[in-house]
Amino acid sequence: MESKNDLVGHKVPPAHLIVRGIDKKFGGLQALKDADFEVARGEVMALVGDNGAGKSTLMKVLAGAYSADAGDFFLDGKRVSIKSPNDASALGIQIVYQDLALCENLDVAANLSLGKEPVKNGWRFLPYFLRPIDNLEMESKANKAIKRLQVRTLHSVRSKVSGLSGGQRQAIAIARAVGTESSVVMLDEPTAALGVAQTKQVLEVVKRLRDTNHAVVYISHNMQDIFEVSDRITVLRHGQNVSTFITSNTTPDEVVVAMTRGLDKNSVGSV
Ligand SMILES: Nc1ncnc2c1ncn2[C@@H]1O[C@H](COP(=O)(O)OP(=O)(O)OP(=O)(O)O)[C@@H](O)[C@H]1O
Ligand SMILES: [Mg+2]
Repeated sequence: MESKNDLVGHKVPPAHLIVRGIDKKFGGLQALKDADFEVARGEVMALVGDNGAGKSTLMKVLAGAYSADAGDFFLDGKRVSIKSPNDASALGIQIVYQDLALCENLDVAANLSLGKEPVKNGWRFLPYFLRPIDNLEMESKANKAIKRLQVRTLHSVRSKVSGLSGGQRQAIAIARAVGTESSVVMLDEPTAALGVAQTKQVLEVVKRLRDTNHAVVYISHNMQDIFEVSDRITVLRHGQNVSTFITSNTTPDEVVVAMTRGLDKNSVGSV
């Protein structure tokens, strides 16, 4: 499967995940129509478009939360099938939902191990709900995950989630997605509810994901954030592709025009 990233003079790494021709209908509403998308490892691909453009739907299709009516999926050039969240996660595709789904009453370490808590040696013969948790191992794994993403403001992985800031929670949710063997991490408006300092913190985590060679998909309405963090920008409008821009080749104004009015295909910066 050929990637569409051959703009002269701009070396974009070969795409890791490619989807082509995605259709998705909800009843009579065509949320995605023949949509294409791709993201490379070590790249942040922003996904933008007006409200209802189909961004979250596309992300959920990639995460297997919705099954597409039509379309093809390729991972490192090999055709794959994504029909359920299990399919996506087995392929290393993780999504961080906007509500984050963290457990308020548990600490950071427990949240990071949720559903796959390490068991103390010698107790595996018990039914899983009776097995004693290896707290030291859980803590050490959590510390590693937090260190990997350089979440500097978190003082202890034993802090309860209920006492954390919005930015810290977002970072924990990201660390959880990355903690499993993931190669694609998708974030749906991670900074929508955050102030300036916390947004900065989350953007730093997103950049760390790129540095650790993940393929990052980043949905946002905030042009400043998008231009700070992304390498390319895919624009959707009414469920269809308008264009994919190389961020350093375009301007926020041009992207906004593409989002709201569509685009002349020969526009500067468009791939
Ligand atoms: N589960 C669903 N059932 C019915 N319609 C849906 C469902 N999910 C999304 N839609 C519709 O599909 C279209 C695309 O929605 P989607 O949530 O993907 O947009 P979006 O680009 O993420 O918008 P926003 O920026 O507002 O989050 C919208 O018209 C929406 O109402
Ligand atoms: Mg959305």
